Amino acid sequence: MTCDAHIHLLPGLDDGAADVDESILMLRKLVSLGMRAAVLTPHLRMGTNTIETFLVHRKAAYQRLRKTELIQKKQFKCFLSVEMEACEGFSRLPGLDRLLSPELPYLPLALPLGGMKGWLMEELSYLLHKRKICPLFLHTERYLIFYPEKDKQKLLSFPHAAYQFTLASFRYLSIAKTALQLYRNDKLVLLGSNGHNIGTRLPEIDLDKLYITESLAKIAAENIMRSNDEYFNRFLES
Ligand SMILES: [Fe+2]
Repeated sequence: MTCDAHIHLLPGLDDGAADVDESILMLRKLVSLGMRAAVLTPHLRMGTNTIETFLVHRKAAYQRLRKTELIQKKQFKCFLSVEMEACEGFSRLPGLDRLLSPELPYLPLALPLGGMKGWLMEELSYLLHKRKICPLFLHTERYLIFYPEKDKQKLLSFPHAAYQFTLASFRYLSIAKTALQLYRNDKLVLLGSNGHNIGTRLPEIDLDKLYITESLAKIAAENIMRSNDEYFNRFLES
């Protein structure tokens, strides 16, 4: 796979890489697996942070990271983005569009695990129709596990949404099947590791070591990996 679509690689920003040294170890891990890019998705939680402050900190963290050899020599490309907590009022915040990477003009969202409540549907609808921003649902597998059936259907049929799955979750056939269905329905489906560090939450993206045993789950992983790479490869230098 070429690009990890969800990783907490920026140093010192959230519960991801603690410092630049750990960021570099994570980068090397990705490169050792053949990766050439990543979408960097530091957490943004309203109430503890503002968009303005987040942008300042994200930029400063990237300035530290971009001095590393892999990025200097253009062997690895970073797309700066966000993992935004979908809370009440988020869709009205000014400056949402400034959070998005130009290469991936979707808003990556972490949804509450309690289901697609009325307020959440209103927020998503406002985001799409008034702000003209499409949501990218992060770690979709979590909602497939925790949501009641009717809420899963709302999630999976939300107009113009994109879906990111943690590749390791394809160990579970039902999750892999859902991802494959979205892909076959021409939804944008991306894969990421949701890696946080080099110890307990490594970027796990190596298909050979993920114990994905069911043949249909392997088919899902291979197809969606290819699609993920087709999406991002056009932004990478040959
Ligand atoms: Fe995350």
